[in-house]
Amino acid sequence: AKGPTGCPVTAGAAAFDPFEDGYQQDPPDYVRWARDQEPVFYSPKLGYWVVTRYDDIKAIFRDNITFSPAIALEKITPTGPEANAVLEQYGFALNRTLVNEDEPAHMPRRRVLMEPFTPEHLKAHEPLVRQLAREYVDRFVNDGRADLVDQMLWEVPLTVALHFLGVPEEDMDKLREYSIAHTVNTWGRPKPEEQVAVAHAVGNFWQLAGQILDKMRLNPEAAGWMQYGIRKQREHPEVVTDSYLHSMMMAGIVAAHETTANATANAMKLLLQHPAVWQEICDDPSLIPNAVEECLRHNGSVAAWRRLVTADAQVGGIAIPAGSKLLIVTSSANHDERHFADADLFDIRRDNASDHLTFGYGSHQCMGKNLARMEMQIFLEEFTRRLPHMRLAEQTFSYVPNTSFRGPEHLWVEWDPARNPERTQP
Ligand code: HEM
Repeated sequence: AKGPTGCPVTAGAAAFDPFEDGYQQDPPDYVRWARDQEPVFYSPKLGYWVVTRYDDIKAIFRDNITFSPAIALEKITPTGPEANAVLEQYGFALNRTLVNEDEPAHMPRRRVLMEPFTPEHLKAHEPLVRQLAREYVDRFVNDGRADLVDQMLWEVPLTVALHFLGVPEEDMDKLREYSIAHTVNTWGRPKPEEQVAVAHAVGNFWQLAGQILDKMRLNPEAAGWMQYGIRKQREHPEVVTDSYLHSMMMAGIVAAHETTANATANAMKLLLQHPAVWQEICDDPSLIPNAVEECLRHNGSVAAWRRLVTADAQVGGIAIPAGSKLLIVTSSANHDERHFADADLFDIRRDNASDHLTFGYGSHQCMGKNLARMEMQIFLEEFTRRLPHMRLAEQTFSYVPNTSFRGPEHLWVEWDPARNPERTQP
């Protein structure tokens, strides 16, 4: 296998394939060799440079001019003419939102749209999260067994996301199907025979986003971040454009929901794989906020992100030419010994856990990070209080193969309902 200049690459670089089960099951472990021996390498299979160390990745996030986010939502696997024709038939035109917008357009837009993410505004969503978490747990608390993903962790963050965005509750199953198709379309490698079905789902998602937006425009005084954007468009039409609103209507549903659903499933899996730690947070819920941070570090829901190199640059001492694409493996940075002592250890008291790069860093850092944290904390509070005796059921974990959005498709847990705290201490 050859690098971009025709020189042969190392065996590790030649073998790197993020759509393989090794990466899916444990991305930081899969690139451990690179973190140790070749922290920046070119992957011929992907056509991207791969960056694996904490300091290099942070430096990339810091400089969003040399390292542009423009490709953040681009299809990582180019599709064939048939799938492209399908997308065209739906008028699919997902373009710049925030996450993939360059300066100087990005910062003014981010500033204009920030207010609904401030702590005072987020507080208003807390009662809904709490109420939903309780209602969903009520449904299965006496069963002794549940798939936390299918029975709660997918739908509750989706409901919260729709509420935050201001979308009247849509058909959840349809949105779940569309969101997964969007993930596969953007970060996956669908087989040629799957591409067309994915394209139909993504095309339908795009049209539905347009319809939802049209409905919202009829009632722009209603609550929600998208209506807020519609109102801001009147004052700043050049900052909050129509293309932005339509693209964000679609991408925002995925950004706000899939990330958080996966993050909670990853966190519950990790905690239940460490029963002594689980017991500790059940006994002392004040440990939950830092435990959430440590879960996001150790096993976050975004495994890698992308940047486009706009001018010849150096990354970790390696010369990278303008026009190159970077896969920055943030989950690997989160396991970098150079930044996190005993990095593979799951330590809910780690004092620098929140240095993780799961939410990115710098001018594009996740705007929804505090909403995600609040949801995760509330879910863990409800689980530890009502099902402290739950354990992981025997199972193998499957993941939707892609570079970036990561969480188990199912998470089976079991417990003895006779020992439920609400029965033993009514
Ligand atoms: C950006 C991850 C939840 C809205 C991002 C980025 C990442 C990320 C990696 C790109 C950061 C960068 O380029 O530096 C996550 C994770 C989440 C989560 C892991 C859950 C655990 C949410 C939620 C919302 C949201 C709940 C909205 C309600 C956004 C927005 C941006 C963003 C609007 C773009 C910010 C910008 O480019 O200025 N997120 N996210 N995210 N996220 Fe999140």
